[in-house]
Amino acid sequence: MKKKLAAFSLAAMLAAGAAVPTAVIAKPIETGYTQVLDQFDKKAIRKIDVDRIYNHIAVLSEAPRVAGTDVEDRAADYLRNEFKSYGYEVEVQPFTFTGYTEPTRLSLTVDGKSGFSPGNFTYGISGDVTAVLADGGLGTPADLEKADVSGKIAVIRRGDISFAEKVINASRAGAVGVILYNNTAGPLSGTLGNHDDELIPAVSLTLAEGEAVLAQLASDPGTKAHLLIEGAETSERTSHNVIATKKPTNKQKDTGDIIAISSHMDSVPGAPGANDNASGTAVTLELARVMKNLPSDTEIRFMSFGAEELGLLGSRHYVSELTEEEKDRMIANFNLDMVGSRDAGDLTMWTVDGQANLVTDLSQDSSERLNGKATPFAAGGRSDHVPFHEAGIPAALFIHSPTEPWYHSPEDTLDKISKEKLEDTAKIVATAVYDRARFDNQNRKDKKRVENKVLIDAFYEEALR
Ligand code: BES
Ligand code: ZN
Repeated sequence: MKKKLAAFSLAAMLAAGAAVPTAVIAKPIETGYTQVLDQFDKKAIRKIDVDRIYNHIAVLSEAPRVAGTDVEDRAADYLRNEFKSYGYEVEVQPFTFTGYTEPTRLSLTVDGKSGFSPGNFTYGISGDVTAVLADGGLGTPADLEKADVSGKIAVIRRGDISFAEKVINASRAGAVGVILYNNTAGPLSGTLGNHDDELIPAVSLTLAEGEAVLAQLASDPGTKAHLLIEGAETSERTSHNVIATKKPTNKQKDTGDIIAISSHMDSVPGAPGANDNASGTAVTLELARVMKNLPSDTEIRFMSFGAEELGLLGSRHYVSELTEEEKDRMIANFNLDMVGSRDAGDLTMWTVDGQANLVTDLSQDSSERLNGKATPFAAGGRSDHVPFHEAGIPAALFIHSPTEPWYHSPEDTLDKISKEKLEDTAKIVATAVYDRARFDNQNRKDKKRVENKVLIDAFYEEALR
């Protein structure tokens, strides 16, 4: 059984993306000696077919797979069907979340004049209101009462209290709409945090625009505005995790251990997500296919999560549904996210606490056997390994770093995918997992790994100066 990792509160910070290096300088560590691949390694990689991986990416990246949409549903169906075709029992695990669709149209005219650049607030509601303006100050109850905003559109300055508090205060004071302008230079975009029945239509303006509106209002207290927001929608939506399980092939020799190989299937709006993360999803599928009939004493679960891009929702749900007993038995999470970009750096592993663990140990060993170079690791969150780590399960993210410029953009397309990178990642993970999952496993824990660790620390210290 594994040793439990302490779950630090630091993990939450890292999960939120704070204090995480965005560009890890990744250079494989040349250790100078390559072990030959053993029979188990060869068995694990023999059937890997990179064209199959590439083809999965082609299918998945036809359109953005936004969480809770039909396209994400179709990706989940595709994964379920593929896993089934390899002979797996498949679990499709649904979960719900509050989703938001941005407005399709946003416009503002003041005194019949347009020319503003109104912005939206996430969770803002649609609406079509025409009313007289009132200077609502900072949007506190006192400011709004003084301004008598009832039946009017309140013009409110950013600062002191949250955007949501300002809009709800205005609503409670009887306003029918809000124009919320910035208190520093530049556009204002923000979130109201969540849906609230008390919300009224609200748009943002720059500081200069807000001051111009107030100047107009000062010169004519009867100034009217028309505020139009169309297509905004907050609703309860459903996403899915898809999990295929390979049981140990001999019940008597079952160690009770579970290894999770994971990825996320969803992408951000507007991005086909060929690399983020059709790549990791496709490698997960191929690993499931090639490992299906390998003799093993360890359970292997191949999974792809929904709604990662909305805050790791799928993996959080998956981990929250594990029993204490399952969490104890889960010895490793190999999380694949962005593993195929020709324009990104070399392969790296990120652990939430920056420490080595079973995943990095096994993978450093396997990458050295394969390539004569141990894949380096650094500290980082930002993906589905975080909930596993927080549950005390040794976990690492596999990602090429630094990230490609197409990340989260419409340019994250199939033509930027490198078959070499996909194949290299698939081989490193397959041999690392099988090193532990095969019968009579004796981890290759010799002094070589310790030397690697030292080399890597030295490397990163150098990279930091
Ligand atoms: N694939 C990315 C994670 C990533 C991107 C890690 C670039 C390292 C470098 C993931 O899909 C993502 O975008 N994550 C979010 C955070 C998440 C909690 C919503 C991010 O990093 O902004
Ligand atoms: Zn991703």
